[in-house]
Amino acid sequence: MTDGWRLVGVLSLLMAAMSLYFLASHAWDVEGIRLVIRATARTSLVLFLLAFTASALAQLAPNAATRWQRRNRRDLGVSFAVSHGIHLAVLIALARVDPELFWKLTKIANIVLAGTAYLFIAAMAATSFDRTAAWLGARKWRLLHLIGGWYIWISFATAIGKRVPLSSFYWPLAALVLVAAIVRLIAMYQRGRRTAALSAP
Ligand code: HEM
Repeated sequence: MTDGWRLVGVLSLLMAAMSLYFLASHAWDVEGIRLVIRATARTSLVLFLLAFTASALAQLAPNAATRWQRRNRRDLGVSFAVSHGIHLAVLIALARVDPELFWKLTKIANIVLAGTAYLFIAAMAATSFDRTAAWLGARKWRLLHLIGGWYIWISFATAIGKRVPLSSFYWPLAALVLVAAIVRLIAMYQRGRRTAALSAP
């Protein structure tokens, strides 16, 4: 299976090809732009959840698949940043092509909250290289990726949660988001218990 930066390259090419195909098949109109916004939100969700649960799953259910996921955690995270970069680019395209529709779909509060998620995504992607991670230091890196990860999780939980009443399509997506948080919390609880047992007199 593809690993490392090659994985980022392959996934980025696939997402770029998918976006161009959707835009071209809708004659580059607003419907095509909306389709790419939704499609990249979904590729972002899958990639984010894989990166977000990688360490926890490798700890709770060690096997070849979760070890692959854990080994490629950084690459899955960077691929998520690429996917969400495309989400942002097509959002800007929608705002330019049809500002009225854009403001019907988006509230100013969304821009502030989702904009903050983008700041975290940019900071986390920028510190995903060995040199930048070393520059930040291990403690600050862990804190940034812990807070950023949960902030992005909340962004997905609200973006999907508010669509759950609109269509049953969003039920399994909401379940996936919830399960990811539960997996992380169980792994954290288990690690806490292990540390407590080790430091007991
Ligand atoms: C300034 C930033 C953002 C804006 C203006 C924005 C705007 C939008 C809009 C207008 C749609 C609906 C498209 C349509 O129905 O045609 C959408 C979909 C979505 N966005 Fe974003 N978004 C932003 C950032 C984010 C972030 C940070 C996340 C999550 C981390 C996110 C997750 C989603 C999800 C899950 C969907 C639903 C896709 C679906 O229907 O399956 N967005 N966004």
